[in-house]
Amino acid sequence: MILKTAPASSALQGELTPPGDKSISHRALIFSCLATGRSRVEGLLASEDVRATANACRQLGMKLREDGDALMLDGVGANGLQAPAAPLDMGNSGTAMRLLAGVLAAQPFSSELTGDASLSRRPMNRIVQPLSEMGAQIETAEGGTPPLRIAGNPGLRGIHYRSPIASAQVKSCVLLAGLYADGETTVSEPLKSRDHTEKMLPAFGVRLSGECGVAGGSKLQAASIRVPADISSAAFFMVAAAMVPGSDLLLKQVGMNETRDGIIHVLQAMGADLTIENQRHFGREPVADIRVRYAARLSGIDIPEEWVPSLIDELPVILSLASVAGGKTRLRGAAELRVKESDRLAVMARGLETLGVELVEYEDGMDVNGGAIGGGQVDGAGDHRCAMSFCVLGQVAESAVTVSGCENIDTSYPGFAEDMLKVGGACANV
Ligand code: S3P
Repeated sequence: MILKTAPASSALQGELTPPGDKSISHRALIFSCLATGRSRVEGLLASEDVRATANACRQLGMKLREDGDALMLDGVGANGLQAPAAPLDMGNSGTAMRLLAGVLAAQPFSSELTGDASLSRRPMNRIVQPLSEMGAQIETAEGGTPPLRIAGNPGLRGIHYRSPIASAQVKSCVLLAGLYADGETTVSEPLKSRDHTEKMLPAFGVRLSGECGVAGGSKLQAASIRVPADISSAAFFMVAAAMVPGSDLLLKQVGMNETRDGIIHVLQAMGADLTIENQRHFGREPVADIRVRYAARLSGIDIPEEWVPSLIDELPVILSLASVAGGKTRLRGAAELRVKESDRLAVMARGLETLGVELVEYEDGMDVNGGAIGGGQVDGAGDHRCAMSFCVLGQVAESAVTVSGCENIDTSYPGFAEDMLKVGGACANV
């Protein structure tokens, strides 16, 4: 799928509520599946990734019913999962595969998790290793990639896992397996990754031990969850509004979890005009409306490495922003970008170079010198976030930017192009 963007002919204006948070949506479905009773989830992201998790939960026995804007989910209880009759297809979603692997490793039945071509290239040893330490039996393809063939072992042992990487998928996978294990399971990590699992488990009645631990045998009870708008999706419009002259855009109901808000800090440090209004909470998740106005002078910055986990998914669009900011932006400590839905450092570097951006690519980051953006054809390489980041940059290019490889935008942001048009941007199917 190809999107064509042109220099935005007018300022970006009005209001937008970006779609529901993807990370929170996956967790709401999985936890509801494991809970006893009927959960209610409002604002669930209706995207392909989340649909993969919903389908898997259905195959495991959960019943889903729409009720107006909400979903009613009849859980099966932690020990009531049914053996799936066929492999569970996780599509493009690493979160779905890694979190469900933690649950399935502890079941008294075997299962198989598969994914699309992109997911089938992604590293799974990061979860297989700690799960194996707990006693799980999991086979991967050569090189530690999917499919995952899980033998299922209801006799897992709790562990105190020191993760070598800051990854909420690894952390959540181990904690979910820990719910079934003997004794306590805790996870520590070098830098704090997103903490939606820790924030949501208590809503389902699970008491955490310490900051990041669970007791084996903890049971989940149905909960009512309201999903904030995804800050990772809002980020495309924050950056677009900061760059397009005259813009004034209000992004509503945006999740402001402090482990996810690095994009706000980067925008502020670069000189963007941002106000945070109407701060409140959906459950334990902080939420706010964010007003972004055009900033005539944006300057490049050194992005502190310790910020990286809190803006990991926003780095593609931050690289777009860096491409128009004055001076140099320096990014390091982001090698994880190479094992996302694509090698995001390589995909962004190739596309930005095509548009005339001066940059140096490093194994774990990039130096970008901001300047004028030319037109041309770039490849989003089937990576939703890279594709949208190029569409955002197209709004301030000197001539049209055509973005190929946009087919997976629906995995996280169905209606992205329509939303861009709605606020005055230029983005259309060709
Ligand atoms: C996610 C965690 C992050 C993030 C991904 C969603 C989650 O991945 O990049 O988009 O929902 O737990 P890692 O855990 O691999 O850093």
